[in-house]
Amino acid sequence: MARLSVNVDHVATLRQARGVDYPDPVQAAVLADLAGVNGITVHLRQDKRHIQERDVYLIRHIIKSHLTLEMAATEEMFEIAKGIVPDMVTLVPENAGEITTEGGLNLDENPDYLEEFINRLQKEVGCVACLFIDPDEETVKNAARLKADFIELHTGKYAEAHDIEEELKEFRRLERMAHLGFKLKLGVNAGHGLNYRNVINIANIKPIEEFSIGHSIIARSVFVGIERAVKEMMEIVRSHE
Ligand code: PXP
Repeated sequence: MARLSVNVDHVATLRQARGVDYPDPVQAAVLADLAGVNGITVHLRQDKRHIQERDVYLIRHIIKSHLTLEMAATEEMFEIAKGIVPDMVTLVPENAGEITTEGGLNLDENPDYLEEFINRLQKEVGCVACLFIDPDEETVKNAARLKADFIELHTGKYAEAHDIEEELKEFRRLERMAHLGFKLKLGVNAGHGLNYRNVINIANIKPIEEFSIGHSIIARSVFVGIERAVKEMMEIVRSHE
């Protein structure tokens, strides 16, 4: 049965849009936690445009479920992670001006730096190290070479497919890469762009342990409340053995 980690960044986006102190992503995390999710995810961007350090510290101390911190592989973020001690850090690329994370990490760019960074996360922070990557064979193999514990497969291309054929092609790619990751002894997560419709098929991919979903859940919460929105998503994600 797969797990669901709810990303509450978009609650912070709404707060920051007005520069006020509501809605509070900490409150959203507590409500999602009480609704029974397996985890909460926050992306603390270097530009701090939505989630703030204060949010992550409070969420860390209040919630009972698993905390995943998404961040760039920089020294500044490493120090913050050391102070927070999340259960998992997912390393993501960050480009200035992007609306959301645009692609997976480029593992070819600076492999020695990344390997060392992963090692320090595991040893000095004491957390699980995950790499957000595109579902590509060489990249999955590289993640194993860098000794990551987990990969998070980027589901953006699948989610944005223009027609059924493209969706099926991207689905099959995700399925193959999830199995490859499993074979290489990597834990496999998936996320980005998943919603109440397109997650149904993906939830069938056995090796995927956890789904990281934010925008669609927070958007639905506006109409039905966060508890119901979270429970509906959990039902889909957990409906497969
Ligand atoms: N996983 C990663 C690594 C992300 O950067 C994001 C977006 O912040 C998500 C999952 C969640 O994507 P969405 O908000 O589209 O569900």
